[in-house]
Amino acid sequence: MRRESLLRFREMAADDHPAMIELMRRSPGVSVRDADTPEGLARFLVRNPGLSFVAESDGRLVGCLMGGHDGRRGHLHHLAVDAGHRRRGIASALVERCLSALERQGIHKTHIDVYRNNAAGNGFWENAGWSRRDDTHRFSIARGGRENA
Ligand SMILES: CC(C)(COP(=O)(O)OP(=O)(O)OC[C@H]1O[C@@H](n2cnc3c(N)ncnc32)[C@H](O)[C@@H]1OP(=O)(O)O)[C@@H](O)C(=O)NCCC(=O)NCCS
Repeated sequence: MRRESLLRFREMAADDHPAMIELMRRSPGVSVRDADTPEGLARFLVRNPGLSFVAESDGRLVGCLMGGHDGRRGHLHHLAVDAGHRRRGIASALVERCLSALERQGIHKTHIDVYRNNAAGNGFWENAGWSRRDDTHRFSIARGGRENA
């Protein structure tokens, strides 16, 4: 008889870093950057407590989403769900947790960057009712020659 795996959501912790990086590296559409060091994740979580979440199946990390805000707008980063666990609502549940937590902190508008060629990512956000912005361009700068910052 096939056993149902036990799915659990909880707040992200700094020591989730190795499992998250491993999940992100095997998730096309997610870029691992120089900012994604263990120290970088720890700093993000200290600055944005209670806004990032993971999903675990039988104790193994199978989904992650980092949420934060700058005092005005929310920003989400690094949504990924393990390929064997997709289309079961895990990403939707992670996003709902992040947005609810942001709302409780008074943040009512949130952004996510999605690569144009990421069909799964674009399909997901469109289905979730997010508005694709064609009226703005995102400008970025990396200082100190750090192209992969
Ligand atoms: C995108 C991703 C996070 C979705 O995770 P998920 O847990 O499978 O998403 P959900 O089960 O919550 O999907 C909810 C709905 O989103 C839409 N959706 C999800 N994956 C989709 C896909 N590959 N193509 C089109 N629409 C999709 C569907 O409407 C889906 O509802 P349905 O399953 O009832 O049809 C996952 O495919 C993934 O990790 N992809 C690789 C990394 C990535 O692209 N991350 C996003 C970066 S912005």
